[in-house]
Amino acid sequence: MTQSTPVDYTIQPALPGHTKSIETVLDEAFGLGRQTKTSYRLREGSQAVDGLSFIADLDGRLIGSIQFWPIIIGGETSALLLGPLAILPVYQGFGVGLRLIEDGVVAARKLGHKLVLLVGDEPYYTKAGFKPFNSHSVSMPGPYDPKRLLFLELQANAADGVSGLVLAPHRAKR
Ligand SMILES: CC(C)(COP(=O)(O)OP(=O)(O)OC[C@H]1O[C@@H](n2cnc3c(N)ncnc32)[C@H](O)[C@@H]1OP(=O)(O)O)[C@@H](O)C(=O)NCCC(=O)NCCS
Repeated sequence: MTQSTPVDYTIQPALPGHTKSIETVLDEAFGLGRQTKTSYRLREGSQAVDGLSFIADLDGRLIGSIQFWPIIIGGETSALLLGPLAILPVYQGFGVGLRLIEDGVVAARKLGHKLVLLVGDEPYYTKAGFKPFNSHSVSMPGPYDPKRLLFLELQANAADGVSGLVLAPHRAKR
């Protein structure tokens, strides 16, 4: 269980005016070099999915953020790539990250999305229901640890039979 938080924060839709503060949170949470990751390459040339970017606000201070990006798996399956998810270091460990995931997933399901992928720490994302792919049928372009490629079905059996390379929509041939 997530420990109860001592801070009175709210989850809100991210607005264009939040962009700079979100970058600050990402820099502080991930440190330098974050933009070399395979997930970043997948986001290049795309835009975060409308209605699926959220921030955690504490008395007007942006303390965390989450985004979801469009991807295509194997040239035919539309899905979401979760990330980046980041919480300002001083506010980590109070459940804000899991709350952002949960609210994001609820919003994604409402919008009709069926499948979410991410590359991240399995022990953490398992808490939000993510699972590793048991086979290597789905792969990411660029370097990554296959054990960190996780998925969450927003619709029953949405991952069944899904295979192939994950690409940004504009790079995928359908
Ligand atoms: C990872 C991150 C988003 C988690 O957010 P958070 O608000 O600190 O996490 P929460 O408070 O929601 O975590 C709740 C639980 O997950 C655990 N947890 C947090 N990070 C974890 C990790 N990397 N691996 C395993 N467990 C983790 C906590 O110990 C807590 O466990 P408990 O409920 O058993 O006490 C945040 O720490 C962060 O921004 N880290 C740096 C950037 C990053 O790594 N982003 C994720 C990319 S994969």
